[in-house]
Amino acid sequence: KQKVIIDADPGIDDSLAMLVALRSQALDVIGISIVEGNVPTAIGVQNALKVLREANRLDIPVFSGAELPLKHDYVSAQDTHGDDGLGESNMTLVTDVKPSQRDAQAGYAKLLSENEDVWFLALGPLTNVALALEQQPDIWQQVSRLIVMGGADQTNGNTSPVAEYNFWVDPDAADYVFQNSPLNIELVPLDVTRKLEFTPNMLQMMQYLDAEKSAFVAQIVQFYFDFHWQQEHVLGAVINDPLVIIYALHPELVQSIDKYVTVVTEGVALGQSIVDRENFWQKKPNATILQAVDAKAVMSHIISGLLIRDAA
Ligand code: BDR
Ligand code: CA
Repeated sequence: KQKVIIDADPGIDDSLAMLVALRSQALDVIGISIVEGNVPTAIGVQNALKVLREANRLDIPVFSGAELPLKHDYVSAQDTHGDDGLGESNMTLVTDVKPSQRDAQAGYAKLLSENEDVWFLALGPLTNVALALEQQPDIWQQVSRLIVMGGADQTNGNTSPVAEYNFWVDPDAADYVFQNSPLNIELVPLDVTRKLEFTPNMLQMMQYLDAEKSAFVAQIVQFYFDFHWQQEHVLGAVINDPLVIIYALHPELVQSIDKYVTVVTEGVALGQSIVDRENFWQKKPNATILQAVDAKAVMSHIISGLLIRDAA
């Protein structure tokens, strides 16, 4: 099985992504770290534990990471994900397991001293990743892929006219990662994740196929449906983060380009990802940027991935 570390800010779509990864027969989730983002870090830790409980995998360590962006003020996305981050499902807290005593940085050090060829999947703002690159550059030798959900390449943002939420929340971290990562970054931007709409009839189909396994998903996505309907009159919810998991396992479902990327850290374009398509700056590409996706195939992988089995 392929070992992965997931860094997330759960979050409804982060939780769906984690559940798909936990239920995948091809992946071995060796640790989950939490960063400030959709919800404050302490709530994110609790949500990761709720997801692990749902997957019967409370043996996996959850590490608490950064609580604030590197320089800018922190703004959560609880309007989109609910006050509890899980669509105001207000599930019972996981009290029988304490999150690991280690913080995210110590957690990475331990996991990456004991494992090699690890994929690092970043589903939230890049604060933890930037800090790990700065503070412990050596551990990255054990990482073979760094896949990041973030940025908006050729479409409008979802948090400002030009910025996607993860990069907008901590633009300094995002840019630091692009400028300092020893690994090429595989970037899964909003342009492609936006194509992935989870609709009420998909949920109904899941419930028909496996009512028990769908219950958790049903509890957390209703709020997302309501939000998308109220904001945009869209019948369904965009689920961004699960594409990272499906792309990691099925790169043949996407098209991508290799280019140099930088992130704007000040001013009106704060958090905008800039892709130097024409190579004006004569820089070596630092990222593989997804451009197109077979959305139908990815959605069916997500839905079957949510249903397949308990990983225990
Ligand atoms: C990203 O921001 C968050 O709201 C989602 O979890 C996703 O990671 C999309 O912009
Ligand atoms: Ca996220």
